[in-house]
Amino acid sequence: MSNKENSFKKIVSHAKQYGFIFPSSEIYDGINAVYDYGHNGVELKNNIREYWWKSMVHLNENIVGLDASILMHPTTWKASGHVDAFNDPLIDNKDSKKRYRADVLVEDYVAKIEEKIDKEILKAHKKFGEGFNKEKFISTSPKIATYQNNSKKILTRLNKSLEKNDLEDVKDLIESLGISCPESGSKNWSKVKQFNLMFSTKFGASSDNAMDVYLRPETAQGIFVNFLNIQKSGRMKLPFGIAQTGKAFRNEIVARQFIFRMKEFEQMEMQFFVKPGTQKKWYSYWKENRLKWHLSLGLDKQNYRFHDHEKLAHYAEEACDIEFKFPFGFKELEGIHSRTNFDLGNHEKFSGKKLKYFDNDSNESYVPYVVETSIGLDRMFLALFSGSLKEETLVDNSIRTVLKLPLSLAPVKVAILPLIKKDGLPEIAKKIYNDLRYKFNAAYDEKDAIGKRYRRQDALGTPFCVTVDHQSLKDETVTIRFRDDMKQKRIKISSIDYTIDKSLSTINLLKNL
Ligand code: GAP
Repeated sequence: MSNKENSFKKIVSHAKQYGFIFPSSEIYDGINAVYDYGHNGVELKNNIREYWWKSMVHLNENIVGLDASILMHPTTWKASGHVDAFNDPLIDNKDSKKRYRADVLVEDYVAKIEEKIDKEILKAHKKFGEGFNKEKFISTSPKIATYQNNSKKILTRLNKSLEKNDLEDVKDLIESLGISCPESGSKNWSKVKQFNLMFSTKFGASSDNAMDVYLRPETAQGIFVNFLNIQKSGRMKLPFGIAQTGKAFRNEIVARQFIFRMKEFEQMEMQFFVKPGTQKKWYSYWKENRLKWHLSLGLDKQNYRFHDHEKLAHYAEEACDIEFKFPFGFKELEGIHSRTNFDLGNHEKFSGKKLKYFDNDSNESYVPYVVETSIGLDRMFLALFSGSLKEETLVDNSIRTVLKLPLSLAPVKVAILPLIKKDGLPEIAKKIYNDLRYKFNAAYDEKDAIGKRYRRQDALGTPFCVTVDHQSLKDETVTIRFRDDMKQKRIKISSIDYTIDKSLSTINLLKNL
């Protein structure tokens, strides 16, 4: 097993062991690409959502929130283009009977070329040591140039064929690259076919007059159909945004990589309505703004990069991803799309209702343009979780597993631990715990030796452990231990609240945005 696979396996098993994520309906052997969040997972997920909501809605005076329904009138999805164009190109392996996304097979092939580039860089770094200039090496190495040209050529051909819906050429490409079935090694491929990703269900009491409806594949359309309701009731002036978080559903066939690609997931989306002609400026603004938001959480800057789309979604004029370095490589974390007036324009057409904005300044009516920011909450969870899980070798050579989450997003903020289970220590610890619970998600733990309890809290990312010992009985002090450097300090019981609060407050993060 490669190092990457190994570290990914550790992440998945850590998430289960510590109550973050479980396979859905596991007692029935689970259901592909659907997951449940456990007692710690739900806290972390709520904290990420809240951080996004505060920074997006509460800190922008021209952005308001919405909570639209999952089920919408089916014509919505005709107007949005999802009925006709929300497809994945699928290919079957005739021998193994496994089904794949044709574009993902090619992209995985290209990812392997990129791995070779990384290996070349690593080799050169080892050879030249301290004085190694990475940029110069990349720009002058003939081997790297060949790899890069090759990747570019393959991706350009793939994107062109997909854009033209030339599925025969996609199959030719797979065959000419010699791509084989990852399960069986067979190269016996079927034709490539388009497959619509929307889940449908029935709406109505009897099967005769039941109407087919879809589970929304994106939350964005709930925003578009409410554009005028919000603009009028909120007396909003352009430019302004509408934000919402909520579940979305996609019948993903290639559903692997844990919570990276799920059939039921949650999105955090914001549609920013602007005057036509100003969309380029706002697109750049939101690109920069969103990257800043990610960086505010304190993971290494090297984990993020932009990827401009060559192949645009059916609604987009310009689009990019913020990619994150997941354990399986750089992949899309968030999308920023300049959606033109495609959605509002089409909803006007299909509904027959006007969705125009009257601009008092220029005295004209027009359909606004839209710049969208769209991030998967589950993907954000995976980015933070995988980027924060560390194994450290301590001075005594033991290994400490610690989840170095941003402090204010940690599921449990403080654990109260009586040193031993007698001599009145549990009573004091319980009192501290009960007082702190009003303000912080706190835990009380008296089982096992204190070292073991510290490790348990490290593994779930708890920033502070407060230990009550015999000295606490004499002078009302406790030790407070910090997760990241394991340093301990003696403080008054009365100052625990303040000490924790000042380092945990999300305000610190938000003010840096
Ligand atoms: N409204 C635009 C839209 O939905 P998208 O790029 O298809 O654009 C936006 O999705 C984000 O939603 C992605 O960047 C990703 O974080 C998340 N996402 C999409 N499909 C997902 C899936 N199957 N599982 C988990 N997250 C997903």
